Amino acid sequence: MIDLSSAVDPDRGWNDPRIYTDPDVYERELEHVFGRTWLFLAHGSQLPKPGSFVQTYMGEDPVLVVRQRDGSVKAFLNQCRHRGMRICRSDAGTSKAFTCTYHGWAYDLEGNLVNVPMEDRVYHHRIDRSAWGALKVPRIAEHKGFYFGTWSEETPEFEDYLGDMAYYLDAVVDRFDGGLELVPGTSKWVIDSNWKFAAEQFASDMYHTPVSHASATMALTDDPSVRSRFAFPDAQGRQFSGSGHGSGSFERPEPVSPSPEYGPRTYAWLKSREEEIVRRIGADRARRVTGHNTVFPAFSWLGAFSTMRVWHPRGPGQIEVWAWTYVPKDAPAEVKAEIRGMTQRTFSPAGSFETDDGENWTEIQKVLRGYKARQNRFHTGMGLGHEERDAHGLPGLTNDVYAETAARGFYRRWHDLVTGKSWQQIQESDRAREAAEAAIPEKV
Ligand code: FES
Ligand code: FE
Repeated sequence: MIDLSSAVDPDRGWNDPRIYTDPDVYERELEHVFGRTWLFLAHGSQLPKPGSFVQTYMGEDPVLVVRQRDGSVKAFLNQCRHRGMRICRSDAGTSKAFTCTYHGWAYDLEGNLVNVPMEDRVYHHRIDRSAWGALKVPRIAEHKGFYFGTWSEETPEFEDYLGDMAYYLDAVVDRFDGGLELVPGTSKWVIDSNWKFAAEQFASDMYHTPVSHASATMALTDDPSVRSRFAFPDAQGRQFSGSGHGSGSFERPEPVSPSPEYGPRTYAWLKSREEEIVRRIGADRARRVTGHNTVFPAFSWLGAFSTMRVWHPRGPGQIEVWAWTYVPKDAPAEVKAEIRGMTQRTFSPAGSFETDDGENWTEIQKVLRGYKARQNRFHTGMGLGHEERDAHGLPGLTNDVYAETAARGFYRRWHDLVTGKSWQQIQESDRAREAAEAAIPEKV
């Protein structure tokens, strides 16, 4: 394995590219990143009634997320304790119990083993069913309808883990009185690249937009005034970085501005709800927080494009993307349909913008098959030293929208975890760094 202690340097702004290719690094990630962080499991709208379930992954571990009879949500490893088969093989549905299709062991909604075929004959009364339940996800947190889980008892409480990122997450999830819902169904596709390229880009990278998406943007709108605001070099905006999470947006003139992501019905409906949006999240946040985001490590969304996804890792060189379109729950059906159509055209497996992004990541991964290519450091130093804290009316550490502050924050948190720091050590070093920043005289 490469020397992890010097694999990234977020203070100077570089990465060792072998963090994207080394199988041993990947194993460390499964254990220390995906095993010790809060991971998105499901949205409440996917689990409408007792017994509703969805199958998902925490890293590479398959889990079942289930609505309980008391309305709570629980999750457990989707692995039969007999010989390791998947307990449930449906993507989603409603059930009273889950029966393994190999030999028929059955589990209740909490994952307790409740039935073993021919139990008396085959085990002679010598199996303790209570000891052979599915492995439970010990901690589940709910944030405004979104459920997250962690395997770790030492990970900070979810709201502390989120920190200032809550301001940016809530800009999307708290925008409407009626909340959000996910359009039924999950789009799934495979990208041959390391998961960090995608997660980091959604945390940090607006710099690629005017270049990578130049033609997609032209196809989206021919209004030059909208285009110049949308993704071109004179676009204004800020980027946020905190606790490994990141967010960045181009500013819009009004809380609901005409924008190429919106079809005419969507724009008219959003405009009719402008007062509600402003009441809930404030005019400034509505106008300024509409862009790309990642909650560390691998839960991302694009505010105005209504796409939300998890980058499930599949080895050092592959991602399985699971993506959903989210819509305001109380929007009329024709608005929801228009949003869905727009998200399909832009950020779906064949979407114009999505394919631009995937091509970059797969090309880099191919280049990294070269030995020499893996000896060259990657630069993540954009905007270094120009960060500001709690400035420009935004909470947390921010920088110009064209910066790599959030990429550096992402790799700092990644490095803390893969090198085995405890969460207590991580929180202490976060506090020390914030205190050091506070000591820097205010910039003028
Ligand atoms: Fe599930 Fe045997 S593996 S019952
Ligand atoms: Fe992109």
